[in-house]
Amino acid sequence: MSSPVKFLTSLGQVMATMGLYNPGHPARERVLDESFQELQDLLADTERLKFSFIGGDVVHERRVVRELKDWDWATRLAGVGIERLEIDTTVTREDYEQFLHDTFQRSRGEAMDTAEVRHMRATGIRYGTLALDTGESLEATEATLATATIAYSLRDDVEAIQWMHNHVQSTGELPLLEAETVVRSLAIAMHSQSEIILPLLQLKEFDQYTTTHSTNVSVLAMAIGEYLGFSGRELRVLGVSGLLHDLGKVKIPREILIKPGGFTDEEFTIMKAHPKEGAKLILDRDVRLEVPAVVAYEHHIMLNGGGYPAFHFVRDTHYASRLVHVCDVYDALCTHRPYRDAWTSEKALSYLEEKSGTDFDPVFSLPFIKMMRARQVQRLSVENPEVTESGAAGQDGGWVEKK
Ligand SMILES: [Fe+2]
Ligand SMILES: [Fe+2]
Repeated sequence: MSSPVKFLTSLGQVMATMGLYNPGHPARERVLDESFQELQDLLADTERLKFSFIGGDVVHERRVVRELKDWDWATRLAGVGIERLEIDTTVTREDYEQFLHDTFQRSRGEAMDTAEVRHMRATGIRYGTLALDTGESLEATEATLATATIAYSLRDDVEAIQWMHNHVQSTGELPLLEAETVVRSLAIAMHSQSEIILPLLQLKEFDQYTTTHSTNVSVLAMAIGEYLGFSGRELRVLGVSGLLHDLGKVKIPREILIKPGGFTDEEFTIMKAHPKEGAKLILDRDVRLEVPAVVAYEHHIMLNGGGYPAFHFVRDTHYASRLVHVCDVYDALCTHRPYRDAWTSEKALSYLEEKSGTDFDPVFSLPFIKMMRARQVQRLSVENPEVTESGAAGQDGGWVEKK
């Protein structure tokens, strides 16, 4: 049994005991001691523990804890607004007991504090809802809330990305600062209306494919990262990885890129070089961009080792590659192609579901499906990419198409 499992199991035991025994009772003190010891053991290896509780699943750091599939406290904690839980090394036994006591009371509907987010940084325990989690401080959470109703346009972002692609094409150099700035801006756009509306671009001319697709994959990668409780820094790395995953396409002749029908063998070989070309362009610019470079290289590799480029031996790809792979395929399927109509969001999600475990890593594809079914997508035209408030549910599983 891994220690996160032991710790959370013990946490559930304390909760159960709290219903039966008052503070100070030896039975209650003993399980509390044991649980606090489990917590200390876990904190010996890390400065801060992070758990998320999503739809009955427990996510520890970035992994779904499968052993806790039937642990009903995951649902109960989420039910009282604790969708994420962070504990750092400064936590004391008293803090821990207080947190459990408060949570137990909330679970019985006896909460004194009805605030949606309770901040207990001073005590080493923080918890709240996932939607508000930026992985940073509460101040960052408040900043997110403050921007939640501003109108926002993706126009500048679209222009910046078009400029970035042209710049890479003509100079062979990636303008790193601009790429990072675009990602920060997209992160704001993601929160510009309500948490539930996700702004994505809609393709009109196939020439714009790399721009719209890169934007969308960046937004989707940050959205799923945020949903899973990743930290602010990790989210930016995911955003940059999504934005740059197809960068290698700037090296592919335009006539091949925009070709309406199928490729010849030779064309397909050229096309399949874009992951390697992209990784090279990114690494040439800055070795610190290791993760986006790895993602560019690996984003067409499937969970079962299929796809391209072929590895000499089967090995796991980076988690960010597996995450971006899900977003990449979703956006590609929902995009109109000369040879087929755009799939509806629901059809694309069903496809991801069907291929989870073979093509896609379920650790990312399943929460992605859950998240996309819960959110509305606002499809914005490249010419007029204003995020508006008219984000009412559309016909297709919450899609809103803006003309
Ligand atoms: Fe690609
Ligand atoms: Fe792609």
